[in-house]
Amino acid sequence: MAMIAHKCRDHTVTVVDINQARIDAWNSDTLPVYEPGLDEIVQAARGTNLFFSTDVDTAIKEAEMIFLSVNTPTKTYGVGAGRAADLRYIEKCARKIAEVAEDDKIVVEKSTLPVRTAESVKRILESNSNGRSFQILSNPEFLAEGTAMADLEAPDRVLIGGDQTPEGKAAIQKLVDVYATWVPRERVITTNLWSSELSKLTANAFLAQRISSINAISALCEATEANVDEVAHAIGTDSRIGPKFLKSSVGFGGSCFQKDILNLVYLCEHFGLPEVAAYWNSVIEMNDYQKHRFCRRVISTMFNTVADKKIAILGFAFKKDTNDTRESAAIYICKDLLEEQANIAIYDPKVEVAQIQRDLGIDADNEYVTYCKDALEATKGAHAILILTEWDEFKALDYQKIYEQMQLPAFLFDGRNILDLEALRAIGYEASGIGKG
Ligand code: UDX
Repeated sequence: MAMIAHKCRDHTVTVVDINQARIDAWNSDTLPVYEPGLDEIVQAARGTNLFFSTDVDTAIKEAEMIFLSVNTPTKTYGVGAGRAADLRYIEKCARKIAEVAEDDKIVVEKSTLPVRTAESVKRILESNSNGRSFQILSNPEFLAEGTAMADLEAPDRVLIGGDQTPEGKAAIQKLVDVYATWVPRERVITTNLWSSELSKLTANAFLAQRISSINAISALCEATEANVDEVAHAIGTDSRIGPKFLKSSVGFGGSCFQKDILNLVYLCEHFGLPEVAAYWNSVIEMNDYQKHRFCRRVISTMFNTVADKKIAILGFAFKKDTNDTRESAAIYICKDLLEEQANIAIYDPKVEVAQIQRDLGIDADNEYVTYCKDALEATKGAHAILILTEWDEFKALDYQKIYEQMQLPAFLFDGRNILDLEALRAIGYEASGIGKG
């Protein structure tokens, strides 16, 4: 919404939330989300054509177009628990719009939703229409965290789905016009509602599948003399495969991949397609395997025990340039290490201590976990270093100095393949990466 406000100065964008603390944060100097480039855009537009408020009713009344961007977490209860999306917030929004709106509205789904959710939103709005007309559009977001502003500024494509009726097409055109202010028209793709909804789930499933595929090969590389980075480079030069998203890692995390695939799996089962469900579910199984496999390798390399040893954890976010830890591989790896009674010393440049404690489900006084202000402190007296997020600053550390303050043999496990293992071995480290024999 900040990008739309920034690019379309003649449109007024009001972001509303029922959470007062969150809105206060958006109105303060410290935004609740760390994202490179976001501060500048919000500061420039806030108070002119970008507003943050808790007055939901007024914003609905005044808006011509309403974007639904509420969370759709995986259900934790009842039918489809652990897999289906929890749609209660979406439904509450639809009911709120039906209750408050005084004239016609275009309602845009921005949250990633199971296919055919627009149908429910439409039914709720239509059955309460009282002479008003509601058009529902699907406009999934493809930005990635850490590069969100660049992705929004120059998206590969913008996808807009809507009814193929004259009214539906007119609504689609209105949203096309918003994006066409800065996105080349040929990059704005319009489809029917269901194709748009399904495309988002499919895009994330394909992306995650690439990572699981290369991670599966990484296990085979470790068992042989092959090097997964070399394999990735070699296959990536095939223009049909392409070089992106082939970086082997400790496993993918983030708020989308796992949730969206679980959602896809649930949909396939719902529509009586168990083979298709099992196919996509294996992408998640491979990711779980990769996370635990990494930890097992750490333990077996360190003489089959990490109990009472100090392990430095460098990076806790699910990727670099974000403070987001949702589904971060680091959470699973730290939990495995704590099970093994290791002492872990965690450093991440952006993630807050309270967040780490929530993720690990531990109290502030847990004696096995310490939180460090930098990598030097985390690695002091450590038996091993685990690189779990590919922060740039980890590439530039003084590994000679770090080595001198570690226990020997000094183990280093690069879970992101960002370091030069040969150079580390020359210093004296017992260094290993992912998918390297
Ligand atoms: C993803 C999609 O990329 C985006 O289009 C969608 O809108 C939301 O979900 P995001 O989760 O923010 O975006 O980050 P992304 O860059 O896709 O990374 C996801 C995870 O995969 C991270 O944990 C990352 O470290 C990992 N990853 C990514 C790899 O392990 N290897 C890769 O080659 C790429």
